[in-house]
Amino acid sequence: MSRLVVVSNRIADPRKSAAGGLAVALGAALAETGGLWFGTSGNVVDGASADGPPQLQRAGRVTLATVDLGREDHDRYYRGYSNGVLWPVFHYRLDLADFEAGHLDGYRRVNRLFAQRLQPLLRPDDLVWVHDYHLIPLAAELRALGCTQRIGFFLHIPVPPPLILAAIPAHEWLMRALFAYDLVGVQSQADLTHLTRYLLNEARAEQIGEHVFGAFNRQLRAGAFPIGIDVDEFAALTDGAEAREMLATLREQYARRELLAGVDRLDYSKGLPQRVRAFRHLLEHHPDARHRATLIQVAAPSREDVPSYADIRRELEGLCGAVNGDFGDIDWMPVRHIHRTVARRRVPGLYRAARVGLVTPLRDGMNLVAKEFVAAQDPADPGVLVLSRFAGAAEQMREALLVNPYDTQATAEAIRAALQMPLEERRQRHARLLEGIRAQDVHWWRRRFLEMLTQGGG
Ligand code: ADP
Ligand code: G6P
Repeated sequence: MSRLVVVSNRIADPRKSAAGGLAVALGAALAETGGLWFGTSGNVVDGASADGPPQLQRAGRVTLATVDLGREDHDRYYRGYSNGVLWPVFHYRLDLADFEAGHLDGYRRVNRLFAQRLQPLLRPDDLVWVHDYHLIPLAAELRALGCTQRIGFFLHIPVPPPLILAAIPAHEWLMRALFAYDLVGVQSQADLTHLTRYLLNEARAEQIGEHVFGAFNRQLRAGAFPIGIDVDEFAALTDGAEAREMLATLREQYARRELLAGVDRLDYSKGLPQRVRAFRHLLEHHPDARHRATLIQVAAPSREDVPSYADIRRELEGLCGAVNGDFGDIDWMPVRHIHRTVARRRVPGLYRAARVGLVTPLRDGMNLVAKEFVAAQDPADPGVLVLSRFAGAAEQMREALLVNPYDTQATAEAIRAALQMPLEERRQRHARLLEGIRAQDVHWWRRRFLEMLTQGGG
């Protein structure tokens, strides 16, 4: 059997907590197969990026290979291009993209550096699996160094319609780089449709078969592979001492109230201001919810050196403060906004204490929190998931209460319906959702992608 080599910008030590879907999912996927995981160390060093071979470290069956980036490389590749251009555009936010800064050179340089450091570690029959928008040109750089291994790419974030992609000044170069891969995976059918339309209309690729495209003397296969969670691992976390303690504390503190919970990275794609506005609307128009419903929003600090992230924090804090000021009472605070990463072992306790889980991104590749919320519920008395129709997860999780997060009133009404839902309906919806996330879990995702990468295309 071939060795699996996973490459991503961010690496998580599989034994530690991390906020962010990619690291959580890859940690779970690699724990089963073992292999090599290559990425940045997270240390940003003064001056140039580290010369010489990556640092190697064992973590269970996985070998972690990491490189330190220099300050300028990190600024241009990670902050400037990946999170200042690609993240907003792929989340349909052209208004937030900073095209002027011209960080593309740093993006190219770090992708080349990754290829140069990774290539000596590769064996001829390795299966190489590259992840996410930071590393789109990596296969092209590896091929330029003579690598002939099968190389797959998985994009964790959405694919917007072709004319949005075409606003990126270097879009032809960027998307052409996909043809160096043998297989390109995206999260949803909607993403696959957009990618197909881009390849046919903008890249002028030829359609050779179903989801097989020819251009630049290469063939590219594409497919939708919705990512999942490790349901058993999450159930075990939910049973663990720390989650139980969290659950007991919250039950005691909120004995006579109903909890609504949100757990996100603090990112403008997550629709947090819209969520607080919907909650405010509920309190304004349904006085019976006052003193009863409490929203706990945990938002992990994320990418704080990108200006739009500082803006969203200020906006959210202002909105939460105003709701508490206008509706709060001496014995009741409507919103608790907590700006931190909660230990992963405690998170399921918060999910389980909540009558309603709020997952209302304006746009999201998948959203694993939606799946974790379902996995953490007590099947005998489960909470209700309110889910944005613009999360990739909405294609699979039809039994959630699906909402348009831009529609404040409709979202508020869905929250109200969730709070009032009878036990039997909650059970039925939960059972169907649980069945779905079990059938298409993270191991199913990994197996399907790697089987297709091993078999065909190219
Ligand atoms: P993204 O990858 O965009 O952050 P996902 O919902 O797919 O969004 O994945 C987020 C992951 O990070 C989940 O596993 C979730 O439990 C975790 N996470 C998000 N926010 C927090 C937080 N504030 N504290 C702890 N874990 C968090
Ligand atoms: C999303 C992206 C990942 C990223 C994660 C956390 O899940 O798809 O690639 O790792 O967010 O963001 P960060 O910038 O902290 O790695």
